[in-house]
Amino acid sequence: MNAIVNRLGDSTTGSGEDVPLIVSSRFTEPAGHTLEGYRNSGSYRGYEGLRSALERSPSEVGEIVKEATLLGRGGAGFPAGVKWGFCPPDVWPRYIVVNGDESEPGTYKDRVLMERDPHQLIEGCLLAAYAIGAAQVFLYVRGEMAHAQERIAAALNEAYEANLVGRNILGSDFSVDIVLTWGAGAYIVGEETALIESLEGNRGMPRLKPPFFPAAKGLYMQPTVVNNVETLSNLPWLFEHGVNAFRETGTESSPGTRLIALSGHVNNPGVFEVAQGTTTFRDLFESPRYGAGIRNGHELKMFIPGGASAPWFFSEHLDIPLEAREVGPAGSMLGSGAVVVMDETTDAVRACLRLVRFFARESCGKCTPCREGTTWEEQILTRILEGHGRPSDIDLLTDIGDNISPGPYPVAADPGSGLEAVPFPPRQTTICPLGPSSVAPITSALRRFRSEFTDKIKRRDPIPVSSEPVPVNHAGEFDSGAAHV
Ligand SMILES: Cc1cc2nc3c(=O)[nH]c(=O)nc-3n(C[C@H](O)[C@H](O)[C@H](O)COP(=O)(O)O)c2cc1C
Ligand code: SF4
Repeated sequence: MNAIVNRLGDSTTGSGEDVPLIVSSRFTEPAGHTLEGYRNSGSYRGYEGLRSALERSPSEVGEIVKEATLLGRGGAGFPAGVKWGFCPPDVWPRYIVVNGDESEPGTYKDRVLMERDPHQLIEGCLLAAYAIGAAQVFLYVRGEMAHAQERIAAALNEAYEANLVGRNILGSDFSVDIVLTWGAGAYIVGEETALIESLEGNRGMPRLKPPFFPAAKGLYMQPTVVNNVETLSNLPWLFEHGVNAFRETGTESSPGTRLIALSGHVNNPGVFEVAQGTTTFRDLFESPRYGAGIRNGHELKMFIPGGASAPWFFSEHLDIPLEAREVGPAGSMLGSGAVVVMDETTDAVRACLRLVRFFARESCGKCTPCREGTTWEEQILTRILEGHGRPSDIDLLTDIGDNISPGPYPVAADPGSGLEAVPFPPRQTTICPLGPSSVAPITSALRRFRSEFTDKIKRRDPIPVSSEPVPVNHAGEFDSGAAHV
């Protein structure tokens, strides 16, 4: 896979619009991960944003982030500045937790950010810590991302050496430590409260929300801001170029850019920085700068617009822009910035099973509908695919889905049958959204490709039997031909 992109410096959308590289400007710099590289390459001078922020008060810094409407890039798209403001006044110490656990199938943009530009993330952490008055930052990296861990560790060593992290940063009164930590490779630890549990040394299982949200009571029951790697990586550019420059790209409600990890059946998969809200899925798949078309001249069958937990879209959705306000009502979400393309050679049932199997294996088991339901979904899909499906299996799948996520599940409209879209988000009987995520591929595939399920169920493989007639005696007993004694 051509994992790294925007080789040509500033990028354009398929429609030719200029897009500043806010977070990926050093992706192609061989030394972009070093302090020297961070200070002397890319679209801004490294740590100058921090220097200018330290001349303002922490609340002014928070206000700038609020004005910019920097939406969280970890999935829910919640504005970072607003979230920071939820920390209750006068409760100390407070913490910043950086969510680098990225592991949803198809999602790999944070890994590239951590490997290619660790100083950008560190500077982002410092800016956030200064704004909320954090005593400590915990940078949590997914267990398997050894290269990212090493790059961050090396960058932290450089930053401590240069008095950019630690006591009296750049000669100011601001002091903060950044602790690098990593998990054992569990998807559920990406959920913010499970991540906090893991940081506390417990098994990574989500907490019930409400009563407490992390901003009020998070790590060690203290106010804690959990932010995604990409969210924080936007801050250095924002503080060097200012709010107006940041808001020049994208739309009023979704300003700035977004990193998209494009994978699957396109000619040029990779991580691309695109304008939020204006770039369309068609731009992403067809522009020579991005996906460069469906592989081998094939037709698009379906695509996942926002990571494995997002309901599927189809060719009639290609002109929808990457804007949550448009994607949600159409029945899906932009989620974790992962777009997976599937051409007409894809078996919808097999694709569905692959996604459901992931959720079944990653379920933490804390709540019954998810623990039992995802396992059943996997078993039923497996038997359908293997030719042992039962006519009642489709209803059974729907029923299990309804136990995990009651009521109509978000799904795209189906023009063929005149069915309307069900807007995002789903309801849930579970503690966290992982269980309901397993229902997304099933609902999408059943609505659009039901015949692929029913054909497989009809084509049930017969039980193998011998082609030779079996000799039986007059009593209907098996007769081996051997003499009776
Ligand atoms: C099952 C599950 C997995 C998640 N995985 C991640 C992840 O890998 N990285 C991430 O930033 N957010 C992940 N999230 C979202 C986080 O709970 C949280 O909303 C996010 O880290 C907040 O950061 P942001 O506001 O900057 O987007 C996940 C959520 C769920 C329910
Ligand atoms: S929904 Fe699944 S992953 Fe989430 S808490 Fe319940 S059992 Fe765990």
